[in-house]
Amino acid sequence: MRKPIIAGNWKMNKSYSEAKVLLDEIKNLELNDDVEAVVCPPHINLALAKELLKGTNVKVGAQNSHDKDSGAYTGEVSPAFLEDLGVEYVILGHSERREYFGECDKFINSKVKAVLGHNLSPILCVGETLEEREADKAKDKVKTQIEADLEGVDAKEFDKVVIAYEPIWAIGTGKTASADDAEEMCAYIRELIKENFGEEAAEKVRIQYGGSVKPDNVSEIMSKENIDGALVGGASLEAESYQALVNFK
Ligand code: PGA
Repeated sequence: MRKPIIAGNWKMNKSYSEAKVLLDEIKNLELNDDVEAVVCPPHINLALAKELLKGTNVKVGAQNSHDKDSGAYTGEVSPAFLEDLGVEYVILGHSERREYFGECDKFINSKVKAVLGHNLSPILCVGETLEEREADKAKDKVKTQIEADLEGVDAKEFDKVVIAYEPIWAIGTGKTASADDAEEMCAYIRELIKENFGEEAAEKVRIQYGGSVKPDNVSEIMSKENIDGALVGGASLEAESYQALVNFK
């Protein structure tokens, strides 16, 4: 059985002082233990999150990582540092990083392998633009990303790999893919993992949907067979809403 995973992607939100308030609230929430709850604050607040969430089941994820352990890479954070801090997840290949920071599949692939090498779980984001969906090219795009970003990953590592299917047109727009469309793509991703890495890897890999997930649509999305979780931006920035997401029925 794959454990459901609800991860909050805070993006570039919450200063140190604001994060303290939200993390304190999250620390005191009653959350369903059968669901893996993750928060991904900006790097500057990762140590704070580890500290304040000590003793809870809420895990901490980073929003990015470099692929090298150390060196002259001004402004970057290494997977070794994240491991040292006790971070458990790292979002990689988010469409905002691909679009605004020019990250390509080759670099993302290198980061995925680096992160796994440090015993961290990647949350690899893939997804199509509206133009690609309208041109019936959504599956082609996702196939290209999955195969390139996961190239060379050992099939045995897929119990640690999380894939987030995030159609770009649904991120932060209030437009959610229908639960059936999301399920269709997540089933396709599982099929791709089976073709490329074998049946066991496909059974183990957890696949999230992301894009305007809210307390009022999370249950329908989570009811789908191939959807094991959600990667949530906006609706994860408030404790009550985060609790409703993790405690979906
Ligand atoms: P959203 O963001 O929930 O605000 O649409 C999701 C994401 O980009 O991970």
